Amino acid sequence: MTPEKIVENHKKYVLQSWSKQGNLNPIPVAKADGIYFYDFDGNRYTDMSSQLVNLNLGYGNKAIGDAIKAQVDKFCFVGPSYATEAKSTLAEMIINLLPDSFGKVFFTNAGADANENAVKIARMFTGRNKVFSRYRSYHGSSFGAGNLTGEPRRYPLEPGIPGFVKFFDPYVYREAIDFASEEEATKFYLTKLREQIIYEGPDSVAAIVMETITGSNGVIIPPKGYLPGVRTI
Ligand SMILES: Cc1ncc(COP(=O)(O)O)c(C=O)c1O
Repeated sequence: MTPEKIVENHKKYVLQSWSKQGNLNPIPVAKADGIYFYDFDGNRYTDMSSQLVNLNLGYGNKAIGDAIKAQVDKFCFVGPSYATEAKSTLAEMIINLLPDSFGKVFFTNAGADANENAVKIARMFTGRNKVFSRYRSYHGSSFGAGNLTGEPRRYPLEPGIPGFVKFFDPYVYREAIDFASEEEATKFYLTKLREQIIYEGPDSVAAIVMETITGSNGVIIPPKGYLPGVRTI
């Protein structure tokens, strides 16, 4: 297929997410290797974002390709009630990297359904319904994760799911208040969060969902002590 035809088909048949469909102009990608991808004219692009952080180990990573091929040759899929070497080995590796409070891994397809399931588990475990998340956040765009999301990409889902409560990030750089120190900022934001939880009804809160460092909404690093403070609350 020619690059022109690839782009033409894309524009005509592919519903490209988060985009005005009339203005699409995608680069047709011919090949990729390591940190680079190439178009059909031989132009080389350095991929500074690892394709939405999905390819942190690089394009064409041989170890990953070989492992995928080996598994496909054995079997591609078995249902969740069957044990497989790949699944049980990976779960053990992940748990061994985590603090002791983590017991098991629930495998999902992507971030959005991981978050959907985390909310369901929190609600079932606590018997409570409210879920706090922050305005400057993106947690996915499926219905539940899209309701967790705080930034404008949640608007199409409104009026939204009852019990999804938003609070403000500690965005010290843009805050109207001139904090003397990170600790002072932390105290301010934790006080506000605590107050909001009290007024929402502390016994109704099942979970607080946060990006530890806000990603696509500004790379906001929390001030010192903020994350442990939220956990304490
Ligand atoms: C912080 C964060 N959470 C969740 C998601 C949703 O993940 P996925 O697109 O894999 O569903 C994203 C995706 O960009 C994300 O950046």
